[in-house]
Amino acid sequence: MRLDKFLGDQNIGTRKQIREYVKNGRCKVNGGVASKADIHINPETDVIAFDDIELTYSKFHYYMLNKPDGVVSSTKDGRTMTVIDILKDENVKDLSPCGRLDIDTEGLLLITDDGELIHRLLSPKKHVDKVYEVHIAKDLSERDISRLEEGIDIGDKRNDGSPDKTLPAKVLLMGEDEEGNPVIHLTIREGRFHQVKRMLEAVGNEVVFLKRLSMGSLVLDEELEPGEYRPLTQEEIDNLKK
Ligand code: URA
Repeated sequence: MRLDKFLGDQNIGTRKQIREYVKNGRCKVNGGVASKADIHINPETDVIAFDDIELTYSKFHYYMLNKPDGVVSSTKDGRTMTVIDILKDENVKDLSPCGRLDIDTEGLLLITDDGELIHRLLSPKKHVDKVYEVHIAKDLSERDISRLEEGIDIGDKRNDGSPDKTLPAKVLLMGEDEEGNPVIHLTIREGRFHQVKRMLEAVGNEVVFLKRLSMGSLVLDEELEPGEYRPLTQEEIDNLKK
């Protein structure tokens, strides 16, 4: 692989910037200053460093975003800011969000150019757990909780016209928020359209605030304010791929 491709894949800069960095002696191969940007290196065996920081090669890029309210989860939208716009300084092509959150939903969104991982995590057969912090308009009764946990009719139909109930879910009561709204943690294993809002509607309640806390093994980093993101650690990537 060419050195400039390696450095580009690690988001060091554009091809042009990388040529400049190499010219200025900022890139080393096996401890020696690289002479040219187009030299061939072996990403498996050569030690590549930029500004004396060793780089580990990864073909794909993985970020955790704390999605803010008011931003859409699509890759392009003429008028409204998208989650991909937030990561534009990363200069990574083909980034996509792993699933969608509603425009007013906050919290964990995995954004990556690893299409295969996205496909696997979203596959309906995989039943990856998603945990949401849900602030609701009024308390849930014992019966509401049982209905949510057992699987509930939210209006979806099977091919034969019978109700396609949600899969069993888990409800944890978490107290109240500052406005006095009850807060629950709801774990679901599917990703149907507006699923959490429709589940709460089905028990005569209403979601007033929604935030995703985790998806499979990936847990939202509490240090991230809404609108902030960070690359995943190698451990987080490995756990997601398990
Ligand atoms: N369920 C919803 O209703 N909205 C989301 O954004 C995610 C899950």
